[in-house]
Amino acid sequence: CGIVGYVGGRSALDVVLAGLKRLEYRGYDSAGVAVLADGSLAAAKKAGKLVNLEKELSVRPLPAGGTGIGHTRWATHGGPTDVNAHPHLDGAGRVGVVHNGIIENFAALRAELADRGHDLRSETDTEVVAYLLAEEFSSCADLAEAMRLVSLRLEGAFTLVAVVADDPDVVVGARRNSPLVVGVGEDESFLASDVAAFIAHTRSAVELGQDQVVELRRDAIRITGFDGRPADDARAYHVGWDASAAEKGGYDYFMLKEIAEQPRAVADTLLGRIDAAGSLSLDEVRITASELREMDKVVIVACGTAFHAGLIAKYAIEHWTRIPCEVELASEFRYRDPILDPRTLVVAISQSGETMDTLMALRHAREQGAKVLAICNTNGSTIPRESDAVLYTHAGPEVAVASTKAFLTQLVACYLVALYLGQVRGTKWGDEIQAVVRDLSHIAGAVEEVLGTMEPVRDLARTLADKDTVLFLGRHVGYPVALEGALKLKELAYMHAEGFAAGELKHGPIALIEEDLPVVVVVPSPRGRSVLHDKVVSNIQEIRARGARTIVIAEEGDEAVVPYADHLVRIPVTPTLLQPLVATVPLQVFACELATARGNEVDQPRNLAKSVTVE
Ligand code: G6P
Repeated sequence: CGIVGYVGGRSALDVVLAGLKRLEYRGYDSAGVAVLADGSLAAAKKAGKLVNLEKELSVRPLPAGGTGIGHTRWATHGGPTDVNAHPHLDGAGRVGVVHNGIIENFAALRAELADRGHDLRSETDTEVVAYLLAEEFSSCADLAEAMRLVSLRLEGAFTLVAVVADDPDVVVGARRNSPLVVGVGEDESFLASDVAAFIAHTRSAVELGQDQVVELRRDAIRITGFDGRPADDARAYHVGWDASAAEKGGYDYFMLKEIAEQPRAVADTLLGRIDAAGSLSLDEVRITASELREMDKVVIVACGTAFHAGLIAKYAIEHWTRIPCEVELASEFRYRDPILDPRTLVVAISQSGETMDTLMALRHAREQGAKVLAICNTNGSTIPRESDAVLYTHAGPEVAVASTKAFLTQLVACYLVALYLGQVRGTKWGDEIQAVVRDLSHIAGAVEEVLGTMEPVRDLARTLADKDTVLFLGRHVGYPVALEGALKLKELAYMHAEGFAAGELKHGPIALIEEDLPVVVVVPSPRGRSVLHDKVVSNIQEIRARGARTIVIAEEGDEAVVPYADHLVRIPVTPTLLQPLVATVPLQVFACELATARGNEVDQPRNLAKSVTVE
């Protein structure tokens, strides 16, 4: 969910609505706002996208005021209805609260409130907080203190922002797990899940730490722990990008813009990390070289697209460093009692830095004594904060729910980690490392080249709009690329899409092949390990013989595939291990165009949220 709070001289409603627009990627099941005006609290909330709320507000406007809160929701407790939308108010309508996360003990708290005669209206876990805050406020008349007391009673993950009609110049926030950032303006203050919500007004931000409460006034912010002691680990920073980075900039969708930004994102992620002599310097990695030399295992944990980046990283890490590497879905990791010790390097990959599954996996790893290196795109977010080291990707803000440029930069970061491990350990691959570093420095240009040749892919996608199923095949690093291609299509086009290891096809999935079924095949480079290439060419023949319509993604100059390709998509010549950086791009374009052709919302696919802050 996305949360915004504001106190200052402008119309709080305008600021909050504009902020919510920027946060809609975090959830778009329903939205709501509350404004303090004339000694009372006025709220509006509506199921569906933010436009529904805006329509409601044009019919029934709220009074103008300088203090307000807002929320855009991704439903957990209770379906996406008007009643379940946030803000939630207490019975007297004096306290308003918005929430991101899950309050695990809400049923007990709700029963307790019912015993005291309160009749709660919604099915959400959030409403209890409004009532509890109202009770505490009535005895201490200090909203921040009331928030601290209530926070101590809540179990689970929660980030809360609240206002009270009796103290109209204050907004209070509390953070456990999901992010909350303060924006410090001139005679105005902001509070949001993500700086994108207030970047148009200020680039000066303070990230709240775990278990902290902030009291926000126009000209002051005060941060304490849940225990009331002043907080010393809230982190002030300057946001390095401006409002235009989070705007569509002439593109129809954020996703199109973000696909187009990939060459830049890749180049920025490499920037400053390879010195003039061609060797790697990763200053942000605070795990010492001698510690890295001791590592005898790497475990990568991530979700969704980031998991696919991890699958690809395994090939590079094992090949370049000879350290065994496991890759696991973060949501599965801690439940199987994984074997971890101080010689295990856990790499947590996350665009947002706040995915709860990944966060819980890294906490588990650290509890077992492992060292955690985060690969993350969001400065100061929870996952890097709780890791031993971080390597930031420099993709810039990614707004479209389906990840594109963040994925490519995650790959770059994974390659850097693999090379760095190889470098500090002085593996015999030293020369190869130098060569890869050179290849990496050309990769942004190769991505640019692919982007220039995507028109036929778009044309093809439009002709497939009425298909039900598309299959994706790949081998070696092409296998995770196939998985990512299939995931993109599920997310965006709502089509049945599956990725398979090409060699595994004959062990079952080949039974799915029927006349005219589109099958996308990612073909490895014919140079280098040509066995790999030849095997995939055989796989293409096998499926074509059974009627499949083959869509072949192959390197420039690879003539062997030509007789078996119903559609041929060319990608630049790239070393095998780096091929995913170019081979993924046509699959992103393909999914985006198919989604458009099917009339789907590209940036906000149904049922999904960009940051999933619940387990
Ligand atoms: C959500 C998004 C996916 C994303 C995954 C992991 O499910 O819809 O696109 O890949 O979370 O997100 P993260 O921010 O941890 O990379």
